[in-house]
This record gives sequence, C-alpha cells and structure tokens, in this order.
Amino acid sequence: MKKTILSVALIAALMLSLTLAGCGNGSSSSGGEQQGGNGKVVGVAMPTQSSERWIKDGRNMKAKLESLGYEVFLQYAEDDVQVQLAQIETMIAKDVDCLVVASVDSSALINALKTAKEVGIPVISYDRLLMNTDSVDYYASFDNEGVGRKIGEYIEEKANLAEATEPQTIEFFMGSPDDNNAVLLYKGVMSVLQKYLDDGTLVCKSGRTSFEDTCILRWSQEVALQNCENYLSGFYADDKLDICCSAFDGFAYGIKAALEAAGYTEEDWPIITGQDAEIMAVKNIIDGKQTQTIFKNTELLADKCAGMVQAVIEGSEPEINDTETYDNGKMVVPSYLCEPLSLDVDNYKELVIDSGYYKEEEVKNAK
Ligand code: BGC
Repeated sequence: MKKTILSVALIAALMLSLTLAGCGNGSSSSGGEQQGGNGKVVGVAMPTQSSERWIKDGRNMKAKLESLGYEVFLQYAEDDVQVQLAQIETMIAKDVDCLVVASVDSSALINALKTAKEVGIPVISYDRLLMNTDSVDYYASFDNEGVGRKIGEYIEEKANLAEATEPQTIEFFMGSPDDNNAVLLYKGVMSVLQKYLDDGTLVCKSGRTSFEDTCILRWSQEVALQNCENYLSGFYADDKLDICCSAFDGFAYGIKAALEAAGYTEEDWPIITGQDAEIMAVKNIIDGKQTQTIFKNTELLADKCAGMVQAVIEGSEPEINDTETYDNGKMVVPSYLCEPLSLDVDNYKELVIDSGYYKEEEVKNAK
C-alpha cells in the first residue's frame, strides 16, 4: 500500500539522495551488532552543522537510535530550506520507518510531511516545532519561553534592574523569524524586561525592541556582528552599551567581535547573554567575554526523542510531559519538554564540567 503512492517526485528525490550521499552530506549506518530494531530505519533531518549544538544533536540521536538497534539516515541541510526539503522527500522515498525533523523553515515542509502521513511514516518534531501541519506525532524540546524568561531574569538580576538608580542601555539580538523557538524566546525575555523598558530603567537607543526589528534570519552570527557594529557606531559613540540581550551563543561571538573592534575592554564590557552553552561560549564566560548562556542538555533531549521514536515504531505510548503548550496552528502537539538552565561563571563547573557534559580540557582549548 505504502509503495503504491510513491510519486515520481519522490523517486527523483531518491536519485538526488544518491548524489547527496556521494557528496558526503549524508550519513547512514546500521545498528549492526545491536539487538532489536528489526531492520527499521530512522531518518533524522538536522538544520545545520554551522553551530556546535546541532552537530552534537545529530551525533547524540544517531548513537541513541543505533543503541536501540535502528539504522539511522542522518542528513544536515546547512540552513538551506530547499536542501532540507529534498532530504526529507528522499527519506520518505526511502520509506523510512520514522522521521525526526529539526527544521530550517517548517513552512516549506508542509506538503512533504503530508505525504509522510499519507504513506504512514510517523513524524517527530525535534527541538523546533513543525508549524501549521497535522502531520506530526510528537515533539521533543525544551521549555522555549522558559529559555527567554531565564535570559530576562538573568539580566534583571545581574544589572540589578529592580533597584537601579540610573538607566542602563540595552540592545536586542533575537532568533530566526521562521523558528517558533525564537518567537517564544522573545516572549519570555519581554515578560521580564518589558516593564523596565516602559519605565525607562532600560534604554534601547536604537529603538529596536520589537521581535520584527531584532530577529536575525537563520540565526546568523555575521548579521549579529553587523547589527552590533551598526548599533555601536550609530547610537553609542558617546554612551556605552551596557547590556546585549542575545538569544544565541553564535550571536554572542559576533557581538564580542564587534565590541572588541569598537575598543570595549574588561572595564566597560557589557552583560552578554546567549543560548546553548557551546564549548566556546563556556570558555568565553570563564574569560569574562560572555556573561551568561542557557544550558540545554541535548543528550537528555536525544534520549527522550529516541524513546519517542521507539514508541511510535513499536506502537506503544511515548513519555510526554506536556499536552497543552505547543499549538502549531493546526494541532496541539504532545510534547516532552526538558528544562533549560541558566549558566554563568558561578555555576558552569557544576553544570557542565562536574556532570561530565564537557571535559575541562576541551573547554580550556576551545577555539
Ligand atoms: C534552538 C536553539 C539554537 C537555535 C540556533 C533554536 O531552534 O532552540 O537552541 O540556539 O535554534 O541554532
């Protein structure tokens, strides 16, 4: 039944997959010596290898699924919407037994996901919610509004906003508009900081405080750097920038470069936030060049997601802990949400070194 509905387009996608595999863009391997799995194949579509977090996510998912005995077909789209679409079409054409998708822009995937549903392939949304589709079974992620709230609360506390006697300057660097996580993060940030903007405790000299004005397409580090340069030259010639509210470690690296170029030093270095607790970010935090980040344990995320895959393949109930929050416009997607944690120089050791998440050496030697 499944095979009869495969379209010519999907067969074309299969041929494309051979080309892609030839380019070393894909990675497929079998669970070989592992027990179980019954020859089932899981397609894992990841957005990009341009940031450490997704490399780790792909590696973790592959390892966890293989340990459950599944064969894994892992593909990265390098932030190219059409490439990811082709990869997913290929996975459907390969008749995988389950699809795991961390999207670049989920609006481009709606038809492909519909096909997946029609041919009976379950779909799990990984970290980024697949929007405006009913062709998604489960969602594994973090409390994404909570990520923003934690960033806002950190700034509130670190800058002592509740008792501030003088206004402090702030600029915002928010995530990609095609990523639901970015929208929620902004909401979380503003649930804490909006009142300080309203009462003048925080002053945003560029005037850019809305999500539309501060979002950065595809979470580009280069655009964050440019935006920061523009803010510094346009609005902070006479006055220092005190706070950079950044939604991503990659942005924090760009901001750091712009501040160094503008002559900021240890004495006037602003508060800079981030997200992902990448190794480089942890190093920058130890060195005083970034102030905070959000630690999201992606090993735990992969664990929960692999458990979902196993459940849908075996026809059992996966572990979920939220059935209300993640409305994608078409349905509320049953979710497992992991907890994000705020990390700074005071607790990094406990969170990522003592726990064995990173080795002290790799943090020290990060480049
Ligand atoms: C993830 C973040 C990540 C960002 C950029 C978001 O969807 O939730 O953890 O920093 O994408 O890659």
